Amino acid sequence: MPTALLSQLYPDHLATLQQRASVALLRGGFDHLLIAAGQPHYQFLDDLPYPFQVNPHFKHWLPVTKAPGSWLVITPGQKPKLIYLQPHDYWHVVPEAPAGYWVDHFDIVIVREAREAAAHLPAQVERCAIVGEESATVGMHRPNNPEAVLNHLHWHRAWKTDYELAMMRVASHLGARAHRAAEAAFRGGASEYAIQMAYLAAARETENELPYSNIVCLNEHGAVLHYTNLERNPPAQSHAFLIDAGASFHGYACDITRTYAGAGAEEFRALVDAVDHAQRDFCSQVRPGKSYPELHVHAHLVLAGILREQGFIRMSAESAVESGVSRVFFPHGLGHYIGLQVHDIGGFQASEDGGTLPKPDGHPYLRLTRTLDAGQVMTIEPGIYFIDLLLAELKQRPEASDVDWEKVDAFRKYGGVRIEDDVACTAGEPENLTRDAFMALN
Ligand code: GLY
Ligand code: MN
Ligand code: MN
Repeated sequence: MPTALLSQLYPDHLATLQQRASVALLRGGFDHLLIAAGQPHYQFLDDLPYPFQVNPHFKHWLPVTKAPGSWLVITPGQKPKLIYLQPHDYWHVVPEAPAGYWVDHFDIVIVREAREAAAHLPAQVERCAIVGEESATVGMHRPNNPEAVLNHLHWHRAWKTDYELAMMRVASHLGARAHRAAEAAFRGGASEYAIQMAYLAAARETENELPYSNIVCLNEHGAVLHYTNLERNPPAQSHAFLIDAGASFHGYACDITRTYAGAGAEEFRALVDAVDHAQRDFCSQVRPGKSYPELHVHAHLVLAGILREQGFIRMSAESAVESGVSRVFFPHGLGHYIGLQVHDIGGFQASEDGGTLPKPDGHPYLRLTRTLDAGQVMTIEPGIYFIDLLLAELKQRPEASDVDWEKVDAFRKYGGVRIEDDVACTAGEPENLTRDAFMALN
C-alpha cells in the first residue's frame, strides 16, 4: 500500500471519526471521549498472558494494535491526544516509537508505566465517556462505556471511510494470496496442518495476528462449522477441502471461505459450482436499501432449489424453507458486517439510539438484521453441509420421506460447501473485495 495514498486518505478518516465522536459525546452529555487500548489478560494461576487484542475503538483511530496500556483522548475542537505506553522493559518487545502517516495528527505523550497515563487524562472524570475494559482502569479513570455514546459510535461504524476500505482491500489481498497457497498445498496432498503452515507463510502473519482462527477442513471435517483441529496427517484420499481463513492489515480484517473438490470428485464439484453461482448472485444484490434478513431468507430458497435440482430432496424449495429442512443443510447466517472485527459490532442495531432489530423466526444464527447502505461492508457466505447431528434429527421428522438418503449419505465424506466473500455496498455495482483480490493475483 503506497504511503502517499494513506497520507491522503487518513485526514478525512480522522475528520469523520471526530465528527462522530462530537455527536456521540453530545448525546451522552460528556466533554471527552477516552479510549483505552486495553491490558493483556492473564491465564488462571499463571503469569502468562493471552495474546493481546486491542480495543477495536482504539484501532479505529490509528493503525496501532500492539500498544497495551495506551490511551486516546478525544475532545471536540482539539487535536486528539495519544498517551503512548512505552515501558522500560527488557522482558518483552517494547512498542516501537510512533512513526508513519498518522503521527502528525496527534499530540503524543510517552509514558513509561501504565499508571502514569492518569496524569495525562482529563481531571474531571465525571465529564469523560471512557470506553474500554474494566481492567484498563488507571487511578480514577474507570471505563464507564456509556450506552448513548457507544450506540452512536457502533451504529455509524457500519459506514467505512475511504481509508478503511483501502485497509480492507489490502487485508483481502493478503488473504487471497494465502488462500492460493493453501489450495496448492491441498492439491499436493498436504495435511490440514501443512496447509495451515503454507497459508501462514503466504499471508506473512502469525496465528495471533489473524482476525480469527483459521478453519482448515479436509473431507468430512467441513461439516464442523468451526473446525480448528488441524489434523497432522493427510487422509488416505482428499475428496474435499473447505478453508475459511482471513488476514489482517492495520487492524482491519478479511474473512474468506473457499471450497474445492478433490481429484475425481465430480459430483461434489457440481455442488460447489452451484453454490458458487448462487453466491455470486447474492453478492450482486448487495445494494442500498436492501434488507439483509430478506437476502438471507432468499438465500435459503435458492439453496433449497439447488438441493432439489441435485436430487438431495424431493420437496419444493418453498416447502423445504417453510418446514425448516433448508436449515438442516444451511444452519448458519448468510453473513455479518466486517471491519475492525471480523464480526463487526452493530449488526442488530435498530438506530443510532440503540434498540434491536429482531432476527427472522427460526434463524437464530443470523448476525446482521439491518438494511444495507453504500459504504457498508459485509460477508456473503452461503453453505450446504452434511452434518450428522442435524441429519439424524431430520431422519426422525415426517419430511424425511422426501429426502434421498442414499445421495445424502454419499456426500457425508465431503463435509460441506461454503463460499464467502467480503462485499462493499456502493451507490452502484457492489465492490467484491474478495473476488477482486483473487483476480489481481492472476
Ligand atoms: N470465519 C467466521 C465467519 O465466517 O463468520
Ligand atoms: Mn464470516
Ligand atoms: Mn469465515
